[in-house]
Amino acid sequence: MATVAVVGGGVIGLSIAWRAARSGHIVTVHDPNPGSGASWVAGGMLAPLSEGWPGEDHVLSLGAASLDRWPGFADALRAETGVDVFTAEESLTVALDAADAADLRTVAEWVGERGHEMRLLSRAEIREFEPSLGPKVRLGLLAPTESSVDNRTLVDALRVAATAAGVRFSDAAVHDLADLPDDQVVLAAGSASARLWPGLPVRPVKGEILRLRVRPGATPPPQRTVRASVHGRPAYLVPRHDGLVVGATQYEASDTQVTVAGVRDLIADAEKIFPALGEYELFEASAGLRPMTPDNLPLIGRLSDRVVAATGHGRNGVLLTPLTVDAVLAELGGRSLADAQYACPGRITEASVG
Ligand code: GLY
Repeated sequence: MATVAVVGGGVIGLSIAWRAARSGHIVTVHDPNPGSGASWVAGGMLAPLSEGWPGEDHVLSLGAASLDRWPGFADALRAETGVDVFTAEESLTVALDAADAADLRTVAEWVGERGHEMRLLSRAEIREFEPSLGPKVRLGLLAPTESSVDNRTLVDALRVAATAAGVRFSDAAVHDLADLPDDQVVLAAGSASARLWPGLPVRPVKGEILRLRVRPGATPPPQRTVRASVHGRPAYLVPRHDGLVVGATQYEASDTQVTVAGVRDLIADAEKIFPALGEYELFEASAGLRPMTPDNLPLIGRLSDRVVAATGHGRNGVLLTPLTVDAVLAELGGRSLADAQYACPGRITEASVG
């Protein structure tokens, strides 16, 4: 079995390291501070169907293939660590005006035609499912298979599982993949990946989130992940055991400073969905850097005989983790995973792949 260096210890890198070690590889994760990047700031919603849109067939197909793998992946993690990472079982996208309602119908039809289960809910049905949502909510789209996970519980459990599987950790920064002695290298460095593979089309896109805690006597949070578009901005509330994660802003920026405008917009948008938000404790505001690609599809596959990419997951790193693990393990075994074909780096890196 090959020795494998995994560069980047976020959810993607840790998961690959854990599963590769369990398949017999000798694995080292290189990261000065594993789990502290985008994985720590994520919302953790697994929502490829709700985010489906006509024309984005490959994004839907990759996301749905990974969503299908999540229960098995979470079961394996639970078996090794005793930790359950799920925080909600369904997601509900809501429309606040007529244009949003038309969009929801479009998504329901397009995704439904592709064989995925979704259901439109009337205003009265929404009240039954989630009584605390705001009065402007006029239509809902329920995705009964779209669960969500606690990203921080996930990071912690993956570190435990990886360590138990024999993965070693190096906190020395990697400046050049050629310096690593291993047979195979997995590049899972998120938005920093292009520094280690010049020309790789991955750029940072900043996102801010809020973490809210339920205070005694406050209105209970929604049971499901609730999503909406507010003034054209995507807003979501993802349940946690003690409250909610509210997300997320999106800017072409590479700093991780939390801005006043970002916090203001997140609170204003989330209050339109869930008016009781003001009763909650705001205990954290943070920012992370999503690793975005030009076509919003990840880069998973061979860059060279020695280097496999597992990066460019954009807004969907947590969702795409199980699929990415299977695809990278297949590559380490000399095969390609059919479900990951649309993520092949060659589609946009042909000119720079050496
Ligand atoms: N994962 C959702 C976001 O990046 O906003």
